Amino acid sequence: MTTDTLAIKVTKATTSKLSTVDFDNLPFGKTFSDHMLTATYADGEWKDFEILPFGEIGLSPAISALHYGQAFFEGLKAYKHDDSKISVFRPDQNAKRFNKSAERLCMPELPTELFIQSIAALVDVDRAWVPSKKDYTLYIRPFMFATDPYLGVAPSTTYKFMVLLGPTGPYFSKNLRVKIETEYTRAAEGGFGYAKAAGNYAGSLLPAKKAAEQGFDQLIWTDAKTHEYVEEMGAANVMFVINGKLITPLTRDTILNGVTRGSILQLAKDAGIEVEERRVSVSEIVTAVDNGTCTDIFGAGTAATIAQVSELVHEGKTYTLPNPAESVFANTMRKTLDDIKYGRVEDVKGWNLMI
Ligand code: PLP
Ligand code: COI
Repeated sequence: MTTDTLAIKVTKATTSKLSTVDFDNLPFGKTFSDHMLTATYADGEWKDFEILPFGEIGLSPAISALHYGQAFFEGLKAYKHDDSKISVFRPDQNAKRFNKSAERLCMPELPTELFIQSIAALVDVDRAWVPSKKDYTLYIRPFMFATDPYLGVAPSTTYKFMVLLGPTGPYFSKNLRVKIETEYTRAAEGGFGYAKAAGNYAGSLLPAKKAAEQGFDQLIWTDAKTHEYVEEMGAANVMFVINGKLITPLTRDTILNGVTRGSILQLAKDAGIEVEERRVSVSEIVTAVDNGTCTDIFGAGTAATIAQVSELVHEGKTYTLPNPAESVFANTMRKTLDDIKYGRVEDVKGWNLMI
């Protein structure tokens, strides 16, 4: 199928759930819009792109996604501007990463144009679902999974691509108390930490549950071999401001290359801020918080946006950050990003796809 022939069959819902939704109270991931998109991969090609009412899908219990985890996803957001225009932030970047995940999990790529057109068409159908309230957005969840009803351990020959939409409020409602994780590992070298594989998130649940039981909001993941180097924070990249420099772990096969991370690095460089992408040791961070040279620690991600850390705990010792509300870097960067996403400034980089 070529990109110009993408025809999407649209079947509209007969009734809308819009009036039943409390748009002032939208926890992440619980509310879905009226429609979803599905497409099928079979006989070596993507076909049957369809927008239909959100609902259950019938599947064989033998599909390989359920048994061997051939499944991955993306996350991006649509924003409503003050003049009611709607944009999606950097979908081309998610399309690129979608295909990196596909390649690593032995799944078929989806041409960038098909990925973007699918999202644009679905957001357009459900444009009334993009919230207007400050800091509220329409979360977009594209995903792909294997559908061969076959229990042999082999790549599937058939797949589904789907997109869901859900209006959402902020993912975090407060600053975070974070533990540096030195027992469990999110991703190891040679593995697939750089892919948005469903299995990466399954593996993070037990450590996150244990951390929550100990009173932590999030984990900072460290490297699998030594636990001496910082990698990511929960389902977000992690960034530090030390002596006025923006420092973040260099991406490698254990780290997801975040769109938010890349955007922040670009905007910081544009603003003349010194940026370092490199290995970052736990000892460097705790020392810098201890001696007051580390002014900011934050997670950066689509769902998390910029999620500031107020307290860091490593090997039982607590390190307290300066008041996050007074952090110049994180608060300025959040505003700079939001101004672009919500169309309050000219989109000089062409990051917004207008719907
Ligand atoms: N790292 C992980 C493990 C994530 O799940 C996410 C969320 O998508 C990110 C980083 C941040 O990536 P992005 O900024 O593209 O959302
Ligand atoms: C996102 O930020 O889009 C994510 O994928 C995080 C999600 C796992 C909550």
